[in-house]
Amino acid sequence: MKKVSGRGANMETGSRLAALSLLLSAVLPPCVLTVTVNSDQIDPLVYEEQLLWVSGAQGEVDTYRIPLLTFTSKGSLLAFAEGRKSSSSDVGAKFIAMRRSTDKGATWSPTSFILDDGTHPDGLNLGSVVVDEEEGSVILILSFCFHLAICQPSSTMMVETRDDGLSWSQPRNLSVQLGVKNFAPGPGFGIQKRYPPAKGRLVVCGHGTLEGDGVFCILSDDHGRNWYNGAALKSIPYNQKKRPQDFNPDECQPVEMEDGSIVINVRNQNNYHCRCRVVVRSTDGGLTLPIDNLYFDYTLVDPVVAAGALQKDGVLYFTNPANDQHRVNLTLRWSVTDGKTWESKAVQIWPGPSGYSVITSLNSGSPEDRKYIFVMYEKGHKNYYETISFTKIHLYGGR
Ligand SMILES: *[C@@H]1O[C@H](CO)[C@@H](O)[C@H](O)[C@H]1NC(C)=O
Ligand SMILES: *[C@@H]1O[C@H](CO)[C@@H](O)[C@H](O)[C@H]1NC(C)=O
Repeated sequence: MKKVSGRGANMETGSRLAALSLLLSAVLPPCVLTVTVNSDQIDPLVYEEQLLWVSGAQGEVDTYRIPLLTFTSKGSLLAFAEGRKSSSSDVGAKFIAMRRSTDKGATWSPTSFILDDGTHPDGLNLGSVVVDEEEGSVILILSFCFHLAICQPSSTMMVETRDDGLSWSQPRNLSVQLGVKNFAPGPGFGIQKRYPPAKGRLVVCGHGTLEGDGVFCILSDDHGRNWYNGAALKSIPYNQKKRPQDFNPDECQPVEMEDGSIVINVRNQNNYHCRCRVVVRSTDGGLTLPIDNLYFDYTLVDPVVAAGALQKDGVLYFTNPANDQHRVNLTLRWSVTDGKTWESKAVQIWPGPSGYSVITSLNSGSPEDRKYIFVMYEKGHKNYYETISFTKIHLYGGR
């Protein structure tokens, strides 16, 4: 329906564009004609959807939460979630569940539990997944004993795969290098810088907890062998008990823009200034997050949740439950102005209960891979944490 009426309109736009570029090529040197994405061409359509995990349905897991999704250098997709053993609580013992797709999300391997913290009272929490395309590795950063519930200290842990997710290294304790602090990576993905400054650097951002909240990034300039502390955007009052409406930046998703800056989209934990997202930019490869580079995105209303973001071919995508009170209404937005403005035509992926979300895409640059993004999110009928759903989204309305 929408698809058919949209088709005629877009073909017309297409031929007008072709005429325009012919006209331009007559008067401008060819190098000026770089391909920019026309906002009219983007018309996202949920093309396929399948549930990767269902809470309560499988053996020893009570609740699956915290979806993570990444591409790999070989063109596979890896999906991760926490398998919370005895309740839906953030605290407690967990498996880290993974499924792998080698056919662009059409079929998935059975669930494998790549990590298991036994009966730990405050075990593993996801997490941030980062692809090192220079080495072909995928790194997963997790926290352990994040909530200090009957344990201490809190540690930052890392596991790595060098065979496209088939096998994983033993966990490594990054707190030995970073110092001991509460750091909850993501949840979502970290980035490897593709543009200067600091091309090749791994940048993983997350948040602290309790009084010492804020956004913090950890960095590696040698493919994950050594890590050091980078940017910090601290809460106010820092290291003190918060009140409603205090400045309390929390879970976050960084993306690299084509100018090499890193834009971090942040959960506004105490609804400081608005019930919307905080956005902050680093122009030095994740070393600093100057307050001058911070703004509130009033279009991105938010019920206080972890959201998804992705920069692909010059377009910025964003997913969250777009409601200022409740985790419902999982919505995809896109911007062709680096997030300065958002297209008014948002796409509702799921009207009902929906929580955390992540976005990824395959980046081979092939025509096929340029057409799709993948969104994974917490989806339910009564509660948002009933299932974790994977969607394949055609960016051009199925055309
Ligand atoms: C990780 O290393 C830190 C610093 O050496 C240490 O305090 C902590 O107990 C270690 N955590 C684990 C889980 O081994
Ligand atoms: C869902 O999101 C859309 C887009 O932001 C918005 O127009 C609509 O009011 C939202 N609905 C609910 C129930 O939150």
